[in-house]
Amino acid sequence: MSQNLRIALAGLGTVGAGVLRLLEENGALIAARAGRAIEVVAVSARDRAKDRGVDLSSYDWEDDMTAFATRDDVDVVVELVGGSDGPALALARKALAGGKGVVTANKAMVAHHGLELAGLAEANAAPLRYEAAVAGGIPVIKGLGEGAAANRIERIYGILNGTCNYILSEMESTGRDFGDVLKDAQELGYAEADPTFDIEGIDAAHKLAILASLAFGTQLDFANVDTTGITRIRAADIAQARALGYVIRLIGLSDCVEEGGERRLFQRVAPCLVPTSHPLAGVGGPTNAVVAEGNYSGRLLFEGAGAGDGPTASAVVADLIDIARGNAMPPFSLPVATLEASAPADPGHRRNRAYLRFVVADKPGVLAEITAAMRDAGVSIESLMQQGQPEDDGQPVLVAMVTHDGPEGAVADALKVLDGSPSLVEEPLVMRLLG
Ligand code: NAP
Ligand code: HSE
Repeated sequence: MSQNLRIALAGLGTVGAGVLRLLEENGALIAARAGRAIEVVAVSARDRAKDRGVDLSSYDWEDDMTAFATRDDVDVVVELVGGSDGPALALARKALAGGKGVVTANKAMVAHHGLELAGLAEANAAPLRYEAAVAGGIPVIKGLGEGAAANRIERIYGILNGTCNYILSEMESTGRDFGDVLKDAQELGYAEADPTFDIEGIDAAHKLAILASLAFGTQLDFANVDTTGITRIRAADIAQARALGYVIRLIGLSDCVEEGGERRLFQRVAPCLVPTSHPLAGVGGPTNAVVAEGNYSGRLLFEGAGAGDGPTASAVVADLIDIARGNAMPPFSLPVATLEASAPADPGHRRNRAYLRFVVADKPGVLAEITAAMRDAGVSIESLMQQGQPEDDGQPVLVAMVTHDGPEGAVADALKVLDGSPSLVEEPLVMRLLG
């Protein structure tokens, strides 16, 4: 057996402690599969005194994690700190520039700086791996970059945030409040350090930008992911969706379209209505699922735990095993210089059915005003429901409608006309139906 793969671990929180436990428990199996042992040489976190439920006594401690990048006894740095910039980025840059491998679970850093880091990795012949950054324990990066590498990917979409999926499915099955369920997700270790990243869709947008680059051979473009979170979803929307035969899921979706004679990239994260017959409708709790449509493979569905210490550690260690074996996939499956810079696609041209929810003053003419705006913009209404009780006289009521298939631009035009109308008590909510 050749020399051990020597690693230094920055970050000893949910994922970092999970990695140490996994390496400890499955060490012999991992060494056999990797062809050599994976040896932890040094660790770092903020608070040396904190009890992490793992024995750290046999590892060196570094207060400054960037010291890992210059240690001669370290081959690979494992970054499990988080944050798009700050110490995580400083460490990754320095390690790659010095020819050391980097394994990270940090989607924020990869989404913002992945191109630069991949360039550094390439220039210094150092591996850069980030399987755990997208969809936790699911080997989707490897699946796309290697298993489906022969395909042109037509479309990629899925459930990319465990916290949101946990919240939506708990609200659906228990009727509990949003805030209450969010607290559970934080306690279970699913949520980001800043949970607004989860519930506002930013975490899913980080992951979608990474998947899109890998799937379409385009440069990372996080800034142009059209992002909406789940904070405006009410129990009434969930009930309404169910009555129509749908569940609500936060979906990230990306494809490439021809516009003005050039290839453009569409990327969106938003809550959608998913038909109960669709495989994604049955994906509950913190589970993630990614669907990739390849021109030869057909539809591929990757499903599994999207968050939590064990599944995420599994993905981190899978990357380490790959490096130990000497597998050398370029970080985004293609040489950095060949990744295409694509302009963002105009969503106005996309066609779909939409669920629109209005909260309106219960007075004569309001429905006529809304439907006239739809008519004038060329939006055809498939069904319309109003919820309110006779005894709630004078209280705002909820009007929900589903449109026929049509361009998104037409719905946007109708909503522009209604913008500022005194009949609307709050901004309308629009969710597309996953077709
Ligand atoms: P976490 O529990 O908050 O742990 C973060 C660790 O980083 C802690 O050990 C913390 O030290 C250390 N740290 C934070 N800021 C630091 C600083 N300025 N200097 C030195 N150390 C610092 O986070 P996590 O959930 O393990 O997530 C880690 C990474 O994995 C993030 O990029 C996250 O997005 C990603 N990820 C997480 C999951 C998940 O399910 N949790 C899944 C996939 C990917 P102390 O412990 O001393 O405070
Ligand atoms: N906060 C993330 C989630 C962790 O809920 O999916 C996994 O990336």
